[in-house]
Amino acid sequence: MIEVRDLRRTYRGGVEALRGVSFDVRAGQRFGIVGESGSGKSTLVRLLAGLDQPSAGSISFRGKRIDGVPERRLGFLREELQIVFQDPMGSLDPRMRVRDIICEPLGRAAGHADRVRELLHAVGLPADSGERYPHQFSGGQRQRISIARALAPAPSVLVADEPVSALDVSVRKQILDLLAELVERFELTMVFVSHDLAVVRHVCDTVGVMRRGELVELGDVEQVYQRPDHPYTRELIAAAPKLRAVLARRKGAS
Ligand SMILES: Nc1ncnc2c1ncn2[C@@H]1O[C@H](COP(=O)(O)OP(=O)(O)OP(=O)(O)O)[C@@H](O)[C@H]1O
Ligand SMILES: [Mg+2]
Repeated sequence: MIEVRDLRRTYRGGVEALRGVSFDVRAGQRFGIVGESGSGKSTLVRLLAGLDQPSAGSISFRGKRIDGVPERRLGFLREELQIVFQDPMGSLDPRMRVRDIICEPLGRAAGHADRVRELLHAVGLPADSGERYPHQFSGGQRQRISIARALAPAPSVLVADEPVSALDVSVRKQILDLLAELVERFELTMVFVSHDLAVVRHVCDTVGVMRRGELVELGDVEQVYQRPDHPYTRELIAAAPKLRAVLARRKGAS
């Protein structure tokens, strides 16, 4: 589905955010990317979505090169690949009604009422949510709105960049479970970015560990979690015991 080869991105000022990253994402895979703040995860996401251009290397989507292609010619990618961002408040226009937000990726044409109803139901929001505005919802509900919007064009790939990091711990698992359920139901391929390996383990089958712009480990998520190869991966596993405990407890309770 996605083929990334020796991808590099150096920002003005000389920051080497990506220093030669290569990996493949197969159809149906739930591919996690984990790494500390500043390791280059969001840079990678922007490149995958065609929102930024690499300094070197290539990205192919379904065998088609997307690097170096101007945004106006990436219409097919907008339909195939959608992103859910970390901060639902920042990514939802406060002046727009939820139904218009959800329909945004579908273009200007009116008459998406059935689709909106379907999507609201799919993400577990009340049927009358479409008439309301983002500020009238909780953080978790706002992330459900973002997810509904991402699903609107029926993409084949969902990219989530820290989708639960801005949320209260108590609703994180609900949103993670929702993503897992939707990925299964709509047979999506998912690229899921987090600084927390415990969260990635909860929703992904494969994980790539990023450190300072490089992929230092790549493999089956359980294997990486149980038997990490790289010392940095071991550090990451040790770094977030609290959330891990919360997720484990809730898993046991439900
Ligand atoms: N537009 C930009 N211009 C210059 N430097 C940038 C830009 N965007 C990111 N960087 C730098 O590139 C590096 C990687 O940033 P990136 O946002 O990809 O990291 P990240 O892994 O997503 O971090 P976080 O977990 O905090 O979201 C950082 O050093 C960051 O400061
Ligand atoms: Mg980021």
